[in-house]
Amino acid sequence: MSESAAQRPSGRGRFITFEGGEGTGKSTQIKKLADRLNAARMRTLVTREPGGSPGAEIMRHLVLSGMGKLLGPEAETLLFAAARDDHVRTVIQPALNRGAWVLCDRFADSTRAYQGSLGRVPMGLINAMQRVTIGDLKPDLTLILDLPVEIGLQRAAVRRGSGTPDRFESEKLSFHQDLREAYRTIAEDDPGRCVLIDANSDPDTVAGRVWTALRDRLLPTPASVVSL
Ligand code: TYD
Repeated sequence: MSESAAQRPSGRGRFITFEGGEGTGKSTQIKKLADRLNAARMRTLVTREPGGSPGAEIMRHLVLSGMGKLLGPEAETLLFAAARDDHVRTVIQPALNRGAWVLCDRFADSTRAYQGSLGRVPMGLINAMQRVTIGDLKPDLTLILDLPVEIGLQRAAVRRGSGTPDRFESEKLSFHQDLREAYRTIAEDDPGRCVLIDANSDPDTVAGRVWTALRDRLLPTPASVVSL
């Protein structure tokens, strides 16, 4: 997690989440967007889930080690929810209140896709946990990076090198294909919040698409666009 000390905009900040399957390039794109916002003297906070706060990082370790899987899908979902609760209360909400632009690598849509659509945890339970953990907090913009799964998994393998795949990377190819579909459905169901980004290009081209989406959705006035 890192926060720039640039100029503080007035009022509540903006909450932007990045979502997508394995190896879709979320962390690369978040870094590029943070650099661009920082260069425009916007105060930014980059964070991630699971994790992003000291308590949630402990839970990150538990779920990615595969510990949560042993407890069953509902209990594993509770671990993600507990991590999110701590992260929202101690990091995200305070940063938004300070006027920061919060860029978060994964958020509640990951639970809907991985645990809901793929893990078959009932959406009623997921919605109930969401009410407790995030209440009315909704991202101003969610960028869903979309990429053929074979390419994403290959990128994830290159990034991992000789390390072992984590809990979700080691799932079957069909899991990742279903995951891609689940994210596409999330984007279709909430077009006011979500933008599906074609991530099958070089990082600068994808960054251009991300910037266009952000500019169109969150910087609607010509004056704001010129000032950035
Ligand atoms: P991470 O190493 O951060 O992966 P990535 O670079 O793909 O974001 O691992 C996070 C993993 O946790 C990822 O496989 C998705 C999964 N996850 C869930 O299953 N549910 C959730 O609510 C969140 C936030 C993540």
